Amino acid sequence: MATLTNDIQYYFLCFLLWIASTLLLLHHIFKKPAKPTAALRLPPSPPALPLIGHIHHLTSSAHECFKKLSSKYGPLLYIRLGSYPLILVSSASMAADIFKTHDLHFSHKPKSVTENDRLMLFGSSSFSNAPYGDYWRFMKKLCVSELLSPRQIERSHHIRREERFRFLQKILEKARKNEAVDIGGEITALTNNIICRMVMSTRCSGEDNEAERCRELMKESFDLAIKLTLVAFLGPFKKLGAWVFRKQALDVPRRFDELLEKLMKEHEERAKKGYSEPEDKDLMDILLQVYHDEYSELKITRDQMKCFFLDLFVAGTSTSADAMQWVVAELINHPNVAKKLREEIESVVGRNRLVEEADIPSLPYLQAVVKETLRLYPPAPIIPRACIENCKIGDFDVSKGIPIAVNAYSIMRDPGEWENPDDFYPERFLAPHTEQNGQTETKLGQTFNFVAFGGGRRMCPGSNLAYSIMNNTIAAMVQCFDWKVNGDGSYGAKVDMQVASGATISRAHPLLCTPIVHLNPF
Ligand code: HEM
Ligand SMILES: *[C@@H]1O[C@H](CO)[C@@H](O)[C@H](O)[C@H]1NC(C)=O
Repeated sequence: MATLTNDIQYYFLCFLLWIASTLLLLHHIFKKPAKPTAALRLPPSPPALPLIGHIHHLTSSAHECFKKLSSKYGPLLYIRLGSYPLILVSSASMAADIFKTHDLHFSHKPKSVTENDRLMLFGSSSFSNAPYGDYWRFMKKLCVSELLSPRQIERSHHIRREERFRFLQKILEKARKNEAVDIGGEITALTNNIICRMVMSTRCSGEDNEAERCRELMKESFDLAIKLTLVAFLGPFKKLGAWVFRKQALDVPRRFDELLEKLMKEHEERAKKGYSEPEDKDLMDILLQVYHDEYSELKITRDQMKCFFLDLFVAGTSTSADAMQWVVAELINHPNVAKKLREEIESVVGRNRLVEEADIPSLPYLQAVVKETLRLYPPAPIIPRACIENCKIGDFDVSKGIPIAVNAYSIMRDPGEWENPDDFYPERFLAPHTEQNGQTETKLGQTFNFVAFGGGRRMCPGSNLAYSIMNNTIAAMVQCFDWKVNGDGSYGAKVDMQVASGATISRAHPLLCTPIVHLNPF
């Protein structure tokens, strides 16, 4: 299905490009990029085609194509995707300029290319795309203090524990029947349930499939966002594309709106009755309280609230689920790593009980495995930013307002930063005392060569939660099961590591594995 959509998108894009070039020939419209002012030193630009700019370089996934461009032409490039200019950043030292040296200037997000179409979800009230300002600061403080701070994560510990139990029970059931598990599907259901419950106390239970509906809607909106973005690159032909996707573009936001409105109404009813304990309040309760509070320091709208929930689902669910699928795949392909990891877990936890959140600090190899996977497969490989002032990155000038794309993927596979960068080698994150690794350790803090969560003020606020979910889920999956890839059926068969095309790093093919019980924790 995903490939089918990709194909359709691809052909659609080709079609539009074809129209574009035909019109170009017919009318001799020749739109050159604005000539740079002489005094500025602009980043170099690879050879471009008229009108489409550098779109022809985007042949597979964006991060991979961008990586090829930067290895060939340099770590800072000016490129043009159709009518959309972009500064491409691909080295740790230049990322440091953005995330540290000029952090304040770069704490903005580019105007969404689709923003003015009024077709996107809830207009432009998004949090993760909000400019750095009062609204962003207010929401950031709220989501950190009420959801993502270490203290809050500790408090919601029971939610993750219950969901992990449910997840393991489903897998045990499959193991009993000797059936394959769709790892991606099960893990996404797990992360989705955790986030939904933490944010608004609903889960995808049998009777009420709200989390499930949320997940479907999210998938559809993602799909839609990609289409509209591709279309937006086409400048003058944007209208045609928007018209093609019009029905879907109106339908998805409406259904999302209905679902969230219903959940919010339920929360408001509950608030009227009063909570038995203040502890019962979830993030939605707290936001609604702010919404109804006349004296609140900032007025938020209902649309902003909905958009904020959407942001949390989008940012939190598929990211950690994608990463965990890659961990499982790498572990199957590296049985020696899987063995070492199981030994570590058994030496700390024993063989009589399930690994717990409290065990994680004593499992350095587990942490190294998770981190190494994020280095190789950052779920958000391209980090969008924009600067509000004319600024310098390295020795080059970048002009105010231009969108910036930090390619976390190429930074974390840069041979200048990492030895054998394409190898899966968790040991590189262990033993910080040896000379070479000592250096790596300092680099980690200082020079931004590990940027899976971005950096600076706009850095991912969910990294603690994401780590907690990933560390614990992977630990339990390794402690309880051996995993056999479906395919030729032989034990020890390898998993294919192909990445789907698009703007994220998700698997091209679903990961289907048969679990074999090693330890039954129940
Ligand atoms: C492995 C999992 C995850 C990865 C790799 C990841 C990565 C990222 C990255 C790269 C950014 C942009 C940072 C920047 O501009 O410097 C981001 C932003 C964000 N992430 Fe995550 N994330 C993950 C999980 C989560 C989770 C679990 C949540 C919480 C529910 C979350 C919430 C957010 C939010 C709200 C933003 C927007 C922050 C802002 O614009 O200020 N993320 N994430
Ligand atoms: C999980 O592992 C990461 C490294 O992979 C580590 O930095 C983090 O402290 C661990 N966190 C939790 C909460 O388990």
